[in-house]
Amino acid sequence: MLEFTFNNQTVTGGCVGQTIACTNQKGGVGKTTTVVNLATYLALLGDRVLVIDLDPQGNATSGFGVDRRAVAGSVYDALVDGRPLDELHVATPVAGVRLVPSSISLAGAEVELADKVGRERRLGASIAGIRDDWDWVLVDCPPSLSLLTVNALAGCDSVLVPIQCEYYALEGLTQLVSTINLVREALNPDLDITGVLLTMFDSRTNLSTEVADEVRRHLGDAVFKTVVPRSVRLSEAPSHGLPIALYRPDSKGAEAYALLAGELRERRDRRGPREGARELRGAVA
Ligand SMILES: Nc1ncnc2c1ncn2[C@@H]1O[C@H](COP(=O)(O)OP(=O)(O)OP(=O)(O)O)[C@@H](O)[C@H]1O
Ligand SMILES: [Mg+2]
Repeated sequence: MLEFTFNNQTVTGGCVGQTIACTNQKGGVGKTTTVVNLATYLALLGDRVLVIDLDPQGNATSGFGVDRRAVAGSVYDALVDGRPLDELHVATPVAGVRLVPSSISLAGAEVELADKVGRERRLGASIAGIRDDWDWVLVDCPPSLSLLTVNALAGCDSVLVPIQCEYYALEGLTQLVSTINLVREALNPDLDITGVLLTMFDSRTNLSTEVADEVRRHLGDAVFKTVVPRSVRLSEAPSHGLPIALYRPDSKGAEAYALLAGELRERRDRRGPREGARELRGAVA
């Protein structure tokens, strides 16, 4: 059982979940980098992985080298028109990873969904239709707590939160935690915390170490042991349309995401099946 209290709000978790929303409303903290590279290493371990690019910026799509002007459909079609996700995913450079691309029209989805019934549950309904086909479904969220992000939180088993080892690292976490709790109350009582991931750690600065220590002090076991270092190779890889495993597999950033994939699988196996975790939480509450 994983539990932490942050600014008087308690967050419980307990299992990793097969469908994971990678979320932090702060921009540029490593959400997309994490989704692309974690998906890749999970696939290299033999898992079947579906990535859903829920960000109108489309960085996960371009990070996999997919040209969104050339695709026939996107997650927009699933959200707005209810098209099944299994009609929408495309190949990536990694054999075990398929991608539901983003599209620019996604930016307007919020407005288009505004008066639709069950507008917060659209992604969840789409994922329910395909989840048995995948070992993991990873959703890359936009940097906001918008309706798109709420769809991801309402439709996934758990949340992975990247936190950048910089000033104000914990700023915004209060709001994220209260959004998670609101979604739990209203839409998805079983939403769990997969874990918190420290990113862009720079071992040459005291600041990174101080921030990492502070995050661990507040969030304890929720924080992954794996820390992603600041790595130029990681930031170069998207411009080649490749995950780090295919661009520079020998780099420190590659090593970190490989370790993270292993740690995630290990957490899943150690925490046991989802049903058990749910009962445990009920017993504690
Ligand atoms: N560990 C790292 N070392 C160096 N650069 C990194 C690292 N992780 C991510 N970056 C770079 O930092 C920038 C932001 O990363 P990324 O796009 O993954 O963040 P994000 O949280 O998805 O951003 P947004 O909120 O805009 O969606 C990108 O240019 C990315 O290449
Ligand atoms: Mg992003």
